[in-house]
Amino acid sequence: MLNRASFRPWWRTAAIYQLYVRSFADGAGDGIGDLAGARARLPYLASLGIDAIWFNPWYASPMADAGYDISDYRAIEPAFGTLADADALISEAHALGIRIIIDVVPNHGSDQHPWFRSALAAGPGSAERARFWFRPGRGIRGERPPNDWQSIFGGPAWTRVTESDGSPGEWYLHLFAPEQPDFNWGCPDVRAEFEDVLRFWFGRGADGIRIDSAALLTKDPALPDLPDTGPGTPPGPAHPYTDRDDVHDIYRSWRAIADEDETGSRVLIGEIWLPDAQRLARYVTPGELHTVFNFPYLSCPWDAGALRRVIEQTLALNAPTGAPATWVLSNHDVDRTVTRYGRADTAFDLERRRYFHSLPTDLELGTRRARAAALLTMALPGSVYIYQGEELGLWEVQDIDDDLREDPIWRRTNGADPGRDGCRVPLPWSGTEPPFGFSPDSAVASPWLPQPKEWRDLTVAAELASAGSMLRLYAEGLRIRRAEGALRGTGMRWLPAPDGVLAFDRPGADGPAVRCVVNLSPGPVPLPAGGTVLLASGPLDRGLLPPDTTAWLRAEP
Ligand code: GLC
Repeated sequence: MLNRASFRPWWRTAAIYQLYVRSFADGAGDGIGDLAGARARLPYLASLGIDAIWFNPWYASPMADAGYDISDYRAIEPAFGTLADADALISEAHALGIRIIIDVVPNHGSDQHPWFRSALAAGPGSAERARFWFRPGRGIRGERPPNDWQSIFGGPAWTRVTESDGSPGEWYLHLFAPEQPDFNWGCPDVRAEFEDVLRFWFGRGADGIRIDSAALLTKDPALPDLPDTGPGTPPGPAHPYTDRDDVHDIYRSWRAIADEDETGSRVLIGEIWLPDAQRLARYVTPGELHTVFNFPYLSCPWDAGALRRVIEQTLALNAPTGAPATWVLSNHDVDRTVTRYGRADTAFDLERRRYFHSLPTDLELGTRRARAAALLTMALPGSVYIYQGEELGLWEVQDIDDDLREDPIWRRTNGADPGRDGCRVPLPWSGTEPPFGFSPDSAVASPWLPQPKEWRDLTVAAELASAGSMLRLYAEGLRIRRAEGALRGTGMRWLPAPDGVLAFDRPGADGPAVRCVVNLSPGPVPLPAGGTVLLASGPLDRGLLPPDTTAWLRAEP
């Protein structure tokens, strides 16, 4: 149960479970996950030992981009349930000591949002169109897009509308799919609307906000072509739409809204993919966001040197602002870890998904590494994110039939980019065949994406019953992380280690240190002397730590 005493900045060390509603659990029996399903499984999440849930967008949406195209920011998508379900879910989660983070999508809405529909009807030059980016086209008849920007999902970032008299009309900007028109953040209505949406959900008990595409909101109002600076224009003040300086003002006012709650327990988390770590750190300066997702860590290959560098950089960048680090291995946009770590190239990059999917994978090796990576991640100082299904060791489903794929990335690139459906397949809960308890027995439809039949060994029920399962490892890791003060502190000290091995201590404030050793080298290595093993990601070999294995030890004082 949450009580006032627990309203410390809980998010600094929290374990946060990412719940992708459509694929978590289906209560209604229509093959689509929903809030009733999530409510029924809250006890599962409580026993897993997480502190908070981040829900991917649950609002009314035509689902052109799986809910990231929102038509009403104050209503629940009917396929997921009702506002009353959300209220009940929030209070039931709170009763279990679990906080709720919701996903706010401020860069763009849906083309079915009432604002966009009225903008279409109101015509060029109207106040309604000023809430978006409508512009006449180039060329004699306006037949070419207003500038050369490309959609992040492929194709041009502009779509031409037909005016109400039937004539070809203005173009509007969409950095993602055409069904996701970008809001104009220079327009005061947009700012006021989102401030109200934030208050609406905080008022209903939300404990935090994950901000979608947080570096893209503000645009150069001149909408210039991208400057020709060789291989891309770096994000920053000169970029027409990525990481511009004026975006920070928005987050300072959002922070003030979060801080209207005097207990200081509401958190703002930014989704910001930036190659320049210094610029990323600007978002967590005092008075702005509390944390940002650590995508450099997520993208890092399974390599001791590369991991150590990214961990050090993360901690160094966060140190001056006092913002806690976040540690993220996976989410609903990237390849699942067991698949990724089983490839010859273990990095990940959104723009090279096609290449990564072309590489064969060794799932056994990938699983061993994913287990070791989970314990490394849980041992680092800060908060940790767990994308649903990672705790079961699910793999990326790469053989989905083309006609079942839903991701707009796949469609807009004509299949050149396989997209993200493979990490969004509904979870297996129990039983020996699909739908594996994802839907109730009375269901009238199959899960919206088919589950591999081999997942019979990876159901929650099967893994609870199996001592060496990924689920038991996660639950035990989270339990120890909660129980050991050292793992919830901020200190971390690297220890000397052989090549290919990461070893560090998490010193306790007044108790013993917890030591973490990760073997990324090809051969077994001895464990440091004088410690007791608390947990290991795989069996030890006569006291030696095998390759691709992590051990946690209690260091002797
Ligand atoms: C973010 C989301 C992604 C979505 C995109 C557009 O990157 O994580 O799933 O497609 O924004 O909203």
